[in-house]
Amino acid sequence: MAVPDKVLSNADLEKMVDTSDEWIRTRTGMVERRIVEKETAASDIAFKAIQKLLKSTKIKTKDIDLIIVATISSDHLFPSTACVIQKKLKIHPIPAFDISAGCTGFIYAITIAKQFIENGIIKNALVVGVEILSKITNWTDRNTCVLFGDGAGAALITRAKKSETSEIIDTYLSADGKYGDLLYMPAGGSRIPASEESVKKNLHTLRMEGNKIFKAAVKAMGNAATTILERNGLTGEDLDWLVPHQANLRIIDATARRIKLDSQKVIVNIEKYGNTSSATIPIAFAEAVEEGRIKKGDLVLFDAFGAGFTWGSILFRY
Ligand code: UT7
Repeated sequence: MAVPDKVLSNADLEKMVDTSDEWIRTRTGMVERRIVEKETAASDIAFKAIQKLLKSTKIKTKDIDLIIVATISSDHLFPSTACVIQKKLKIHPIPAFDISAGCTGFIYAITIAKQFIENGIIKNALVVGVEILSKITNWTDRNTCVLFGDGAGAALITRAKKSETSEIIDTYLSADGKYGDLLYMPAGGSRIPASEESVKKNLHTLRMEGNKIFKAAVKAMGNAATTILERNGLTGEDLDWLVPHQANLRIIDATARRIKLDSQKVIVNIEKYGNTSSATIPIAFAEAVEEGRIKKGDLVLFDAFGAGFTWGSILFRY
């Protein structure tokens, strides 16, 4: 994982919009978030996470045969951030592409990588979740600007040897496009291309109907968790860890309650980084591994919900 050095605290936000540390803490669980410097783009912070990842594994850059980047704040509309990262890594021609699945992006990306490995096409996939949400945030809108942060996480998904116990046991994905306008960025695409007017109207920043999203997220994350557990004959009690998308502590608590999971088994770092969309899960997982909480052999559940709507889960043994 990699996050920018610059910290934006609730106290800083109090000076920017009509909000309070107390409101943000009690409604979201957030205390601070990290924000990039002006010149930093998604691929820059992703590259830092990838360099840390490659130092921690025997797999060499030249062994990577697929790059998937989950992001809604890519360096450019095109080429993909995956291709930008491939150039930075100086990797020979391999498939590389981005996917846009909101905060569920990392779960979608791992699921795609799993298919490529299972069907024998590749051995080692580099999967990245990265967001620079500070650059698509309306810093005058207290409903959204207190929620988001920047950061990246990267993972290598590799074909396991028969002797290894690590395994992606199951993945579950879903989406429902009819709710797309509850969380979206109006301009910058072919619907409303950039213009003087679109900039004046601040249409290049995200819009969110927080309370409707909240209710949908509680339901969908609970469903994504129970669906994958039930179809594998498991209950929450069988899990060692839940690593949920970090959008709101109350959503995380509701998800854990739904599967009757002890709060001690839930990885939470929302207080430090806020909501970094597709990067929250890899950041939370990486930190928990670094801290020695999640260990090899543990049974882990990833669970997320995001723009689209999209939602999904991954059950795996680390
Ligand atoms: O990442 C995936 C997608 N995102 C999410 O999953 C986020 C889901 N939504 C949420 O986490 C919550 O809905 C929020 C944290 C965004 C908002 O919490 P809420 O309990 O749903 O509050 P609300 O939107 O119903 O607003 C309650 C009040 C409103 O005032 P009135 O109308 O009751 O007078 C808001 O204007 O809180 C007000 N408010 C604020 N007050 C102080 C909204 N934002 C702020 C703020 N500071 N930053």
